[in-house]
Amino acid sequence: MKIICISENIENIEHFSKLFKAHFPKVQLISVTNQKAAFDLLTIDGPFGVIMIDTTMRHLDPSSVAEKLIDFTGSRPIVFFGPRTFVESRVRDIVFQGHEANQLLFFPFDGMDFKQKLENAIRWIEKEDFEQSILEVNVADYLPIKIKNFYMYDSIPYDAFLDIGNEKFVKVIAKNKKYTYTLLRQYIQKDVKNLFLYRDETIRFLESAIQMINEKIEKILSVSPLTDYNEKNFNYKALIELQIGGVTILHQVIRTIGVLDSVKRLTDNIIATSIHLFDRSENVEKVIRVFPYKEKGLAENAVLTNYICLAIIANYGWDSKTTRNKLGLASLIHDAFLTNDKIIKVYSPDDPALNEFTVEEHEEYRTHTERGANLVNYFSGYSDVDFIISQHHERPNGKGFPNHISALKITSFSAIFILANKFACNFLELWKGNSVHKVIKHIMKEMVVDFNVGNYKDPLKALEKSMIGYKH
Ligand SMILES: [Fe+2]
Repeated sequence: MKIICISENIENIEHFSKLFKAHFPKVQLISVTNQKAAFDLLTIDGPFGVIMIDTTMRHLDPSSVAEKLIDFTGSRPIVFFGPRTFVESRVRDIVFQGHEANQLLFFPFDGMDFKQKLENAIRWIEKEDFEQSILEVNVADYLPIKIKNFYMYDSIPYDAFLDIGNEKFVKVIAKNKKYTYTLLRQYIQKDVKNLFLYRDETIRFLESAIQMINEKIEKILSVSPLTDYNEKNFNYKALIELQIGGVTILHQVIRTIGVLDSVKRLTDNIIATSIHLFDRSENVEKVIRVFPYKEKGLAENAVLTNYICLAIIANYGWDSKTTRNKLGLASLIHDAFLTNDKIIKVYSPDDPALNEFTVEEHEEYRTHTERGANLVNYFSGYSDVDFIISQHHERPNGKGFPNHISALKITSFSAIFILANKFACNFLELWKGNSVHKVIKHIMKEMVVDFNVGNYKDPLKALEKSMIGYKH
């Protein structure tokens, strides 16, 4: 078992090390001097059974540190130590009482006192079977699930693991136990992209997640039908968040399992609710303003592309139900075979920006247009969507890929999608809480330079027309 000790005092650490060797030879004591180092260690080197916190640290409030660490790691005992005056004045009752096995170790103490306090804490951890949370596994038995998908729940009926390399996994979510969003956020900040579930459980998790989103969206559609719309009861942002969550899970299910009936139902639902929301917005800028720019990844890009497509065709005189649905499907699945959210900024396989990605991600990027296009075979009633998807990285100057189609050869349909996709990518990259109008103007100015040519001209005009901010 590993125990983490946060203290700036080297003498304390040395003293504890000797005591652990004498009384708990199997325990590995790891010390850090500040909160950030503790978080780093907990992420990459966990799990830690017990946390020890020095109450005499000048720049750290021991109670707040304890709360943050528990929020991150989940419930486990904390041993607060230091002279009685420090411990009693700096450890808040509510924090100390937060765990039945928390301990106070007052200085000076003797070996037996140390042994008894630590034994109480360690016994609780052993009872929880904590030691078994590090597993040596056959990686092929597990499947990755994007960590964002875990936001949909606060507990799951499966154990979820973090891959710490060398075929070793650490259990970070225990089945049927509540986990916090802070835990997920901390891993995302550390650039952890996936947690792993056992193969069969991955499939069950994905199926249940897709079912849950379908039900939520269908409920929105049933309580707020097109004819009975009540602005006050209609939460734009919440619906778009649901659509983004839906696309994240949609992509994962497509890659992991395939195009199930529930996948088709979810694409239909997201397309229908996008049209529903778009028709109720005065203009697409209203959608852009309420759009939740949290991760700015592939799912956000898919959903925003869909809204921009709707705006372009509304100003292009082409907004039939069929056209809206086709562009909707293209928006939602065109990047389904990409796995790294950061790759949306890459322009083509020759783009130097691709160098920062792995060999596997290069291959995903090179093939994703054709693989995405092939997906359309599984959806009925969506003719022409395959070529829109296969052409979504083409550019007017012929420097796009895979077929270098120039501005004179591209169809209007593809041109509309390319413009919408490009606008969405740029907006996600450039908007950082600044003026929406300014960003739109900036993007449109750049796009006019590249796209005011050939078959892109008229769709570009329609895009300009839909951007109120561009005109002022
Ligand atoms: Fe793409």
